[in-house]
Amino acid sequence: MKSMQRVKALAAAVSLAAAVGTAGAQQTSVEVLHWWTSGGEAKSAAELKKMMQTRGFGWKDFAVAGGGGDAAMTALKARVVSGNPPTAAQIKGPSIQEWGREGVLASVDAAAKDGKWDDLLPPVVANVMKFKGQYVAAPVNVHRVNWLWVNPDVLKKAGVAAAPQTWDQFFDAAAKIQKAGLIAIAHGGQPWQDATVFESVVLGVGGAEFYRKSLVQLDEASIKSPTMVKAFDTLGRIKTYIDKDAPGRDWNLATAMVINGKAGMQFMGDWAKGEFTAANKAPGKDYLCINAPGTQGSFTFNIDSFVMFKQSDANAQKAQLALASSIMSPEFQEVFNLNKGSIPARAGVSRAKFDSCATKSMDDMTASNKGGGLVPSFAHGMAIPSSTQGAIVDVVARFMNSNMTSQQAVDALVKASKVK
Ligand code: GAL
Repeated sequence: MKSMQRVKALAAAVSLAAAVGTAGAQQTSVEVLHWWTSGGEAKSAAELKKMMQTRGFGWKDFAVAGGGGDAAMTALKARVVSGNPPTAAQIKGPSIQEWGREGVLASVDAAAKDGKWDDLLPPVVANVMKFKGQYVAAPVNVHRVNWLWVNPDVLKKAGVAAAPQTWDQFFDAAAKIQKAGLIAIAHGGQPWQDATVFESVVLGVGGAEFYRKSLVQLDEASIKSPTMVKAFDTLGRIKTYIDKDAPGRDWNLATAMVINGKAGMQFMGDWAKGEFTAANKAPGKDYLCINAPGTQGSFTFNIDSFVMFKQSDANAQKAQLALASSIMSPEFQEVFNLNKGSIPARAGVSRAKFDSCATKSMDDMTASNKGGGLVPSFAHGMAIPSSTQGAIVDVVARFMNSNMTSQQAVDALVKASKVK
């Protein structure tokens, strides 16, 4: 009997070894969900694929097109619900905690300890990447949202002397560009793009403290204040400088309009710079990156990160740790962010190769952090729960696509801010 047991145990051990051996011989792949399909975005994602391949892992691309990631999140939910989550997915901000509470995330604490992540990441970033004290995500970058992208040739043609700093200068420039027969503001009419413009307007009209109170703390008095009415008035004026073909347009096509001189300016986060870079355009010469009007000294941050989903297979778990440590390596953070338009999330990456927009972003982030102007992007899932964010984005999109008055929008915003 005893020997029979021993034989069985031995047989089990042999077949296990064979299984591990086979799996080891085959290449383990990581399946990674993201929505990086524009020119600059795809180049950036390709760098992660390359890095994993150099480390001996395969790459199964799970790309779901759609800026801002709404379609990607829907696809992800379907996969997780069916019990077949990808290895990793691009998930950001408070949503990481929402997924953590579902009990589906995997810890990559081993990679974090090994790589000393606690020493390399600012605590505000590290805390977002952890669920119940364990790292479940790795940050790839810091994007800044409150930018205005400008084509200096268009300004020149329209007789605008300097890039606008204030709202008055901005609307003056817009009027002149329109008069010159060009499109003043390149925009794509999609809810997340509407929200991207809206948050820069709220910041530029009300300042960082007002932004924080209204769009991060959801303070009712601020949301229904005259300042918010003024923000919608400003957004309403912006609407009049957007062309009639904007509805449904993808953000990168709007950026292309600025790149090729069809339009003068675009409100967009610095993933737009990835498009300028991919088109071989030089900052300061072919295009300008300036703060959205009135937002000097403030910085709306948007941190992309990859969250790991629980895997039962030991090789898949190993691959996950390799993915996490690749993401945090200085080599990856440099090359990825050079393409993506963002700046590294971790300390210790040389700034030598970064252009003037990126170094401005780095300096402005430090300065705004000291001065109280560093705020999370509401439109890009950094500030509030996704359900509340969705309700507020709906209001902004309705305002952009109807004759709703500013006061009606504010009233709707008060209701939306209570959605849990
Ligand atoms: C943001 C994301 C960026 C960029 C953008 C447009 O939400 O953080 O990385 O990809 O969407 O797709």
